[in-house]
Amino acid sequence: NFMDQLLGTHQTEQQLAEYFGNQRCIVVSGNSEEQTKVADAFGEALSEALDRLLPEGENIIAVMGGTTMAVVAEQLSNLENKKRHNLFVPARGGIGEAITVQANSVSARMAAKANGNHRALYVPEQLSLATYNSLLNEPSIQEVLNLISEANCVIHSIGRALHMAARRKMTEKELVMLKQANAVAESFGYFFNEKGEVVYKVPRIGIELQDLAKVPIIMAIAGGKSKAKAIRAYMKNAPKQTWLITDEAAANEILKGV
Ligand code: F6P
Repeated sequence: NFMDQLLGTHQTEQQLAEYFGNQRCIVVSGNSEEQTKVADAFGEALSEALDRLLPEGENIIAVMGGTTMAVVAEQLSNLENKKRHNLFVPARGGIGEAITVQANSVSARMAAKANGNHRALYVPEQLSLATYNSLLNEPSIQEVLNLISEANCVIHSIGRALHMAARRKMTEKELVMLKQANAVAESFGYFFNEKGEVVYKVPRIGIELQDLAKVPIIMAIAGGKSKAKAIRAYMKNAPKQTWLITDEAAANEILKGV
């Protein structure tokens, strides 16, 4: 019945947070890979959490892209009030996603839903190192990069390493290297093995993994049974203030045999 289900989920949340040693885990019932309403529920949970966690004043919220992030963005509700203003920025530029799920699009959508503002970061794909370095000195890009570096909230998802590498059209050589390194998870353009160690990094501008340590509010949103390994790997070394929003399918798979 409903009460058992609720208590069961609550217990899973606590077990999961204990296992990862992170601040909090929210487990939505179901499997987001099979039922779209589960991903919508991620968004509702995110909206509630942000409303509780975001302090008064000017917040800078850096967001990643991906399909989960795009779905979740649609569920945000107003986060503005007289004392609290939110600016959404993409966390990293140009990691090779389709336009609708790019961090720029997600951040614009989240801002629209939450009645906040947003700033875009325009960096083309496939840059040569020389162009990349000169872009960094572009004042308009510098300005957004400075905002990103001051973010007090980061929202991201977690993906499966090889799946993400293929989706982002990384080279055959990179794919082979990722396989050899036993990469299982990807987040922020970083690839992780099962121990949660970084085995590869796509050079991109914006937030670096080590910058996360000083970000007070971090929300990771990922679910589905097939992502269990990736979530476990990433969460192992994730900053402890990270809140994980996931589903029962992933949580049960992660906790199997614990
Ligand atoms: O690109 C941002 C990101 O959040 C990655 O960190 C992650 O690997 C990916 O999106 C997940 O994508 P999806 O939600 O489409 O599975």
